[in-house]
Amino acid sequence: MKPIRLIVNGNAVSAFADADTALLDVLRNHLGLMGTKFGCGLEQCGCCMVLVDSRPEKSCGKSLSAVAGKEIVTIEGLGTPDRPHPLQRAFIDEQAGQCGYCLAGILMTAKGLLDRNPSPSRKEIAEALDDNICRCGSHIRILRAVERAARLLREGAAR
Ligand code: FES
Ligand code: FES
Repeated sequence: MKPIRLIVNGNAVSAFADADTALLDVLRNHLGLMGTKFGCGLEQCGCCMVLVDSRPEKSCGKSLSAVAGKEIVTIEGLGTPDRPHPLQRAFIDEQAGQCGYCLAGILMTAKGLLDRNPSPSRKEIAEALDDNICRCGSHIRILRAVERAARLLREGAAR
């Protein structure tokens, strides 16, 4: 088996796995990045969303070979407890979540949105998050949190 190279959270890594292994499996079970969650495994829930070359993608539906050489950003690459990303600060401030299981995927989708559109309307935020399911029903607070993060970023908060 030949290693497949990719860039994860800014680091060049080699993954020793079959080419058709799901990226989600590679992240969690080969690279030890447990922040990206397994929900349905069928590209239906958005729990496993990561950025692939800056675009939100469901990692359960991407094979390792499909992301060879690409830049992947996971929730671990967003911020840290000491230096949370403005999105993470906004989600805490709005208490946008209950169990939190969906949030890694939602945060990565929101990051992709705000990187390409710094001033999204509420409708645009809802449309961007259409593929992310929150079973706890925190949708309104999630929308508010993304709006708050967009304001923070426009005001120059450190990313
Ligand atoms: S686990 Fe990938 S979309 Fe549900
Ligand atoms: S906060 Fe529980 S699924 Fe979204």
